[in-house]
Amino acid sequence: MNYRLGLIGFPIQQSLSPWIHQQFLKQAGLEGDYCLFEIAPDRPFEKEISRVKNEQLDGFNVTVPYKKRIIDCLDDLDEDARAIGAVNTAVQRNGKWIGCNTDWIGYTTGLKHHYPSIFQNTTSSILLIGAGGAARGIFYGLMKEGFTRIDIANRTQSSAEAIAALARTNTHTSVITLQEAENRLAQYDLIVQTTNIGMKPNVTDTIISLEQLHEDSIVSDIVYQPLNTEFLHQASQKGASIHYGHTMLLYQARTAFELWTSKQVPVDDMDEQLKRKLE
Ligand code: ATR
Repeated sequence: MNYRLGLIGFPIQQSLSPWIHQQFLKQAGLEGDYCLFEIAPDRPFEKEISRVKNEQLDGFNVTVPYKKRIIDCLDDLDEDARAIGAVNTAVQRNGKWIGCNTDWIGYTTGLKHHYPSIFQNTTSSILLIGAGGAARGIFYGLMKEGFTRIDIANRTQSSAEAIAALARTNTHTSVITLQEAENRLAQYDLIVQTTNIGMKPNVTDTIISLEQLHEDSIVSDIVYQPLNTEFLHQASQKGASIHYGHTMLLYQARTAFELWTSKQVPVDDMDEQLKRKLE
């Protein structure tokens, strides 16, 4: 079988997904290709998606800014995508297009790979910074892993409250301001930065000051361009453990690849390779 895979989004010319999925295809001993379908915001979206579907694809990924908009163009959603309200992977099953979400598992699996110990204590105190689509998936993933203490800090409180509304009965969640997050930083075991602050070209920006950070904390940033964001750089200067953003990219891709091909691929070597590509 010759797998036809791809990515829709805008802009995507610099995407690392083609490289990642070519490596997966090679490792799995499969033939196939992974194409970019860039859809400019001024194009008629539904028409463009019909064109992509006519390419006889077996599956495709969806990235910014279409993870929500794609939902109306699909036949159904799996449980995770429905709960998160966003799709990053579309799979064809019996002629129907099913929307899935692998971002949440990409985040938790990557974190587990690098910091397994934090998963042993589900009452670890977690601070989620940001309340966009990525934050929503990560909150969902952390809850699925059983974590019960997750605060959310965001510039816009109403977006944070919308995520907090997903909380299960045993999950304690407070919505706090960015200023409060800054002041209380020392109380968190894990801090997850999910906004685009610090991304190229504004590499000197950080969403909050890390002055109060405790050295026992793990600090995670989902931005991976640059890999060593100013946020992570300051966290490591404070002696904290850091978790780079490329792992979420890699592990979400692995789960998408498994959904499309039913093949499991090892990612340990690729974690290092991808890191080197971004350094
Ligand atoms: P994604 O899907 O990648 O998470 P998004 O849905 O656009 O992207 O979310 C972007 C996040 O970055 C939001 O938390 C946003 O805060 P608001 O909800 O207040 O908009 C945050 N963000 C973006 N620019 C920001 C800025 N200049 N200051 C503070 N937060 C910012």
